[in-house]
Amino acid sequence: LPVPSVQELVRQQRPDVVPPRYLRDDMVLADHRRESSQGLPCIDLGKLMDPPSRSTELHNLHSACHQWGLFRLVNHGVSDEGLRMMQENVQGFFELPYHEKQKSAQRPGSLEGYGHAFVTSHDQKLGWNDMIFLKCLPNHERNLDLWPQNPPEFRIALEKYSEDMRKLAVAVVNYIGMASGIHEGELDLLMKSFGEGKFEIRMNYYPACPEPERVIGLEPHADISGITLLTECADMPGLQVLSNDDCWVTVPPVHGSIIVNLGQIMEIYSNGTYKAPDHRAVVNKEKERLSIATFCYPSPSLPVGPSPQVLAATGLPPLYQTLSHSEYMQRFFNRKLDDAVPFIDTL
Ligand code: SIN
Ligand code: FE2
Repeated sequence: LPVPSVQELVRQQRPDVVPPRYLRDDMVLADHRRESSQGLPCIDLGKLMDPPSRSTELHNLHSACHQWGLFRLVNHGVSDEGLRMMQENVQGFFELPYHEKQKSAQRPGSLEGYGHAFVTSHDQKLGWNDMIFLKCLPNHERNLDLWPQNPPEFRIALEKYSEDMRKLAVAVVNYIGMASGIHEGELDLLMKSFGEGKFEIRMNYYPACPEPERVIGLEPHADISGITLLTECADMPGLQVLSNDDCWVTVPPVHGSIIVNLGQIMEIYSNGTYKAPDHRAVVNKEKERLSIATFCYPSPSLPVGPSPQVLAATGLPPLYQTLSHSEYMQRFFNRKLDDAVPFIDTL
């Protein structure tokens, strides 16, 4: 369903209270807010790649994936220039007049394009954000009619960025696989299936809000991806992750770093050893916030189920069913429409 743009609402009406459709007092945001980033793991890809430091860093990676399912990645090899070019173009897109952005508007019945995610009813509460969501890889999945032609470098930046993210995802998945005890043939298959996988990018815009503690930027959720690679365009905090002792912990932006967030496919693949954490985005009163989330999926030919090598190494029974990629996606969307439908049965 089409919904109004929050950015336009703020731009045109400058409200000093939040309109009812965005009020989320049910979520008691303030009560859970923690300013501390204490303990949030930071992983160094350079150390993972360097044999003398590898085993210590794999150990850190294992703890990060087990306890948090989310970590900051540094020395990731994506150039500052590549990140900056993408960020500036995303910023530039959202700064365009509304009618220009509407050229990329979501078509009826599709989530792809400029608009809002998962709106299925007229009374559904809304997150305080606008977004543009585009399929990027493989190339034949692109719907170029939805790719903005403005700013003029947007498409080039997105193409380059998705290629950078694909390379990075393959490297990250390789080490996550190693950390979880996967090796040889199965590890090669895992990397190959991410290399040939699907990459979808969602660019989020969260305007400043007159009453930030009464809205939610993005509702709590776990990602359905394999992994998600997140970058932020400016130094406004907003992302929060649910810690294993049930606190919403702010993940502060650090210039040049990339946040890696495990999705449900990796949780299932690791037979629950690794978590797809709940996370959300909150907003603030001072300034807008922009973020870029790249959802990385393995190729649909990889079955979504616990890894045989993880099962063998841990001696545990499979905790999740094995489904085909399309069955898995179908269940996910059915559940979006009806909370009572289980998404994937734990055994
Ligand atoms: C964000 O940090 O703005 C978005 C996080 C997400 O995509 O879930
Ligand atoms: Fe997410």
